[in-house]
Amino acid sequence: MANNEEIQLAERPEGMPTKDTFRYVETEIPELKEGQVLIKSIYISVDPYMRGRMNDTKSYVPPYELDAPIAGGVVGQVSESKSDKFQKGDFVLGNLPWARYNAANPDNLQKVDPDLGPISTALGVLGMPGLTAYFGLIDIGEPKAGETVVVSGAAGAVGSTVVQIAKILDARVVGIAGSPKKLDYVKNTLGADEVVNYKEDDVAKALEKACPDGVDIYFDNVGGPVSDAVYPLLNAHARIPLCGSISSYNKKEDQGPRVHGFLVKSKAKMQGFIVGDYSDRFAEGKKQLSEWFKQDKLTFEENVVEGFEHVPDAFLGLFKGENLGKQLVKVADEE
Ligand SMILES: NC(=O)c1ccc[n+]([C@@H]2O[C@H](COP(=O)([O-])OP(=O)(O)OC[C@H]3O[C@@H](n4cnc5c(N)ncnc54)[C@H](OP(=O)(O)O)[C@@H]3O)[C@@H](O)[C@H]2O)c1
Repeated sequence: MANNEEIQLAERPEGMPTKDTFRYVETEIPELKEGQVLIKSIYISVDPYMRGRMNDTKSYVPPYELDAPIAGGVVGQVSESKSDKFQKGDFVLGNLPWARYNAANPDNLQKVDPDLGPISTALGVLGMPGLTAYFGLIDIGEPKAGETVVVSGAAGAVGSTVVQIAKILDARVVGIAGSPKKLDYVKNTLGADEVVNYKEDDVAKALEKACPDGVDIYFDNVGGPVSDAVYPLLNAHARIPLCGSISSYNKKEDQGPRVHGFLVKSKAKMQGFIVGDYSDRFAEGKKQLSEWFKQDKLTFEENVVEGFEHVPDAFLGLFKGENLGKQLVKVADEE
């Protein structure tokens, strides 16, 4: 009985992945070994970093293997348990293959508390993207009240949380995103002071106008030409948490920005980071994010696509800006 399905990496993409990058394979629901649990996937997270793992290059995580399932953040429900750590019905978060069902070792799973918020938030505002925003902004950005914080990718999972945390900390926030709907969300729902549409505006001019006192923190999610426009505005001792550069993930050559002169002149600190490096402080980050969430200081948006067959499309949509907030795929209902 073929009652399970997984999505494998069929070929390493050059440039933007296509349908040929992915292969659907029917498999069996795994037999559990003693100590394991069977997880039914409910929400599959698609994230920009996965594009990097499709290349056969050295990075902070190993590349995906060819002809093996792609893996990432999944929130699921235990449908069978041979472990005393989890019971049938428990909600869990894990780094799991893109499959309808997975057998997993409980040590690699975290319990998801449905009382904290919708279970999907464990993949978004109360999960990896939220923690990325929290540690990147607070630890590297070190925001102070009244400072100007520019956030690229401001309507996405990480960026939308950065905008809100910066506002909670009384900074002046300028969000950059790629559509009028996103700008409206960043300004009127998330509370940014100014917004810039990098697809329609002259970004350099619009940013100059939006940042009359210069830029103290640039939280960079995108790199490329958008970032080129921010660097000339850096104030002395500006901080740049370098979170990602999605504009170059499908390009063979990195496209900058060229930062040398600007960093020297502004004596700015630019620091790349990977959220996993903060794993020993995740409890602190989750506690603070949950508190703000409960206090209605932190909101979130999700772009939920329905159906396991749409996981690759949802992933590709990240590079076309199709998502407002966290991009997720709902592949099954909760029981
Ligand atoms: N360092 C870490 O540990 C860590 C952890 C998580 C994520 N990240 C990085 O953080 C960034 C945001 O991740 P996320 O999960 O929150 O994704 P996201 O922002 O929710 O989704 C990606 C967004 O990027 C924008 N985008 C796509 N192509 C672009 C381009 N060429 N130029 C400018 N913007 C572009 C699109 O919005 P528009 O419509 O506005 O173009 C799209 O909606 C990514 O670079 C990701 O790799 C880093």
